Amino acid sequence: MDFSTVDSALTGTRFMTSAQARVMYDFVVEHRLARVLELGFAHGKSSCYLAAAVEEVDPERGHVTTIDRTDAERRDPNIWELGRRTGLSERITPVMAHTSFTWEMMKLLREDPTPRFDLVYIDGGHTWDTTGFAFHLADRLLVPGGWMVLDDLDWTLGGSDSMREKTWVKRLSPEERDSGQVRLVFELLMQGGGYEQCHEVGKWGFGRKPAGPVTPVVGSTARVPRVALPPTHAPRRPRDLRDLVRRTVPVEVRRSVLRVAPEWAHRLYRRGADRTGATH
Ligand SMILES: C[S@@+](CC[C@H](N)C(=O)[O-])C[C@H]1O[C@@H](n2cnc3c(N)ncnc32)[C@H](O)[C@@H]1O
Repeated sequence: MDFSTVDSALTGTRFMTSAQARVMYDFVVEHRLARVLELGFAHGKSSCYLAAAVEEVDPERGHVTTIDRTDAERRDPNIWELGRRTGLSERITPVMAHTSFTWEMMKLLREDPTPRFDLVYIDGGHTWDTTGFAFHLADRLLVPGGWMVLDDLDWTLGGSDSMREKTWVKRLSPEERDSGQVRLVFELLMQGGGYEQCHEVGKWGFGRKPAGPVTPVVGSTARVPRVALPPTHAPRRPRDLRDLVRRTVPVEVRRSVLRVAPEWAHRLYRRGADRTGATH
């Protein structure tokens, strides 16, 4: 299915933006990646973009297996509705996890340990424990020469509105709270594990599983090529910015910056929200 057809069926649904989807769609088509495993589908928006792309690559075998928790069924719209809306249901197999995709990946390995995915896209969890373990499981399921993509390299628990007030997050050390844990997976496990052609596009980290034996790379914090995507999200909400000012501006000038920041941030946020239709 061509990009604009699937894109127009998905407008108004949260998560993957059109700009991101365009990058992912083109990547899948360019590298001829027909069998995709996705971790974290939410409404199934990204799953539909991926399904449209794999259909272009291989109308016979193109398929997306995607895993989220059982409560994703209650989302409005849910993945089944988006599948119907785009006409791509047949290309998508949603797997519902009681607790975590890592458990369902155990079952995939137990059923058949043969590497069988050309692309694994990890967009859920975002912690060292979950994403790091998912990375290793995904690596076992990925064909040699296949690609892995990690979303939200710089997302932090402390910077997240929905996470920072949770009791378990408050109990973390500042380092655990404020580190981009997905980036640690990208640098230490993906680059450090010998993945090739590692690069960043927007908030995604890409890497290619080597076709031959791997030599681990020591101290893999080497800089990788980065491509910035044009901004597609509304700027941060005023509350986020006040928080940012508190964390980053020297104490002597913080008061005066804070005096103007909320008004300025509010105007910026409204302007961005109007432009993008963002509601978060
Ligand atoms: C950012 S959303 C995914 C958005 C989707 N990929 C898109 O772009 O349209 C992240 C999803 O990951 C799921 N998730 C997070 N941790 C998970 C885990 N350990 N096991 C299964 N699903 C998980 C959440 O339920 C949520 O729906």
